[in-house]
Amino acid sequence: MSQHDTPSWLSAGHDHIWPPYARFGAEALPVVSASGVRLRLADGRELIDGMANWWTACHGHAHPHLVEAIRAQAATLPHVMFAGLAHEGAYRLAERLTRLVPGDFTRVFLSESGSVSVEVALKMAVQYWMIAGKPEKTRFLAFRGGYHGDTLGTMPLCDPEEGMHAMYAGVFSPALLADLPINAQTEAALDETLARHADGVAALVVEPLAQGAGGMRFYPPHALDVLRRLCDRHGILLIFDEIFTGFARTGSMFAFEQSEAIPDILCLSKALSGGILPLAATLARRPIAEAFEAEHPAAVLMHGPTFMANPLACAAANASLDLFETQPRLAQAQALELQLKAELEPCVGLPGVVDVRVKGAIGVVELQRPSDALRHGFVARGVWVRPFGRVVYLTPPLIIGQEDLTHLTGAVVEVVTQWSRSAV
Ligand SMILES: Cc1ncc(COP(=O)(O)O)c(C=O)c1O
Repeated sequence: MSQHDTPSWLSAGHDHIWPPYARFGAEALPVVSASGVRLRLADGRELIDGMANWWTACHGHAHPHLVEAIRAQAATLPHVMFAGLAHEGAYRLAERLTRLVPGDFTRVFLSESGSVSVEVALKMAVQYWMIAGKPEKTRFLAFRGGYHGDTLGTMPLCDPEEGMHAMYAGVFSPALLADLPINAQTEAALDETLARHADGVAALVVEPLAQGAGGMRFYPPHALDVLRRLCDRHGILLIFDEIFTGFARTGSMFAFEQSEAIPDILCLSKALSGGILPLAATLARRPIAEAFEAEHPAAVLMHGPTFMANPLACAAANASLDLFETQPRLAQAQALELQLKAELEPCVGLPGVVDVRVKGAIGVVELQRPSDALRHGFVARGVWVRPFGRVVYLTPPLIIGQEDLTHLTGAVVEVVTQWSRSAV
């Protein structure tokens, strides 16, 4: 981008913006509009979005049904405080979610980000045990390779070594950490850990089937059944964090549907609002919710973010659910899986490539070592792909057409092949 094409707002704010996960001054491309699967830059270039806006834009960008729902909502009730006042969008959304999600989920707490929805789940679990007369159950168990957010309550649940919060080691007390029970050995180890710590553990938190920001690793559904069994055996609540995997990303509406297991508490966000406004939901099953009907000082969930259940975000989420009901999103995700598998195959066996894997609409090429240099190669090829660490991955909008996906996978194969020749 020449200086001539650099918008004045970009230069004016450059020394004032605090960017995420990056040093000051880190390059950021100015985007002026987005529609379908394309991002439009200030200099007129278009990039095919391989990330779906951090895995949220399942229907693509600026879907007219979502935009119209927000426009109508903005004209009538853009926001209203949610304590003591109610609005239709939130109540409709809560009811629809309890119908959509398999299992006896009866209550929905609406917040404004994924991390907060996990924090709410943790608080629900701790208060549940207070009500049950076991206030000593305050700890959590999480898994190596996991990621559950950036807040102080969720960082302890992330992988403490490979995760992005490693520098905080010692700042807070970490959660108990285990390997996912994917075989007899890891199952026995988890069983033993839970037996030893059951008295103090409130809940176990896990991303079903696909660990996202911790490394885009996949694992088989039967591990979720093992988790359910072990939690029941040891009297521990099971929290599924479907913030990344929910809404068809892994090829089923919710990843846990590929197993028999149903969690006690479920966290949703990202694609919940069609990826267009910040919104998250924490859902509790009937026995958890019913515990909060007791006469007990802990039977009031002490949480209430200012912008919780924002009507614009709820309007977007209701509109997004309309699209899931009327459009073939699941079939699209399943078709993406086949195409990603076929078209990323040329990366298999390239020097420096340690793994190529696909689950639903997630395609991953894992390298031996990280390389920041890859990023420019993607933009030069007209695609938006942002590898992290050693992981080059695609999580495109579910509506992406065959040709555009071929363009994305082609760019990945070319960039990785070139890197493999020069760097290994
Ligand atoms: C599985 C999972 N949990 C929690 C979060 C945190 O969500 P947010 O960034 O909205 O706070 C993320 C975000 O990437 C996630 O992938």
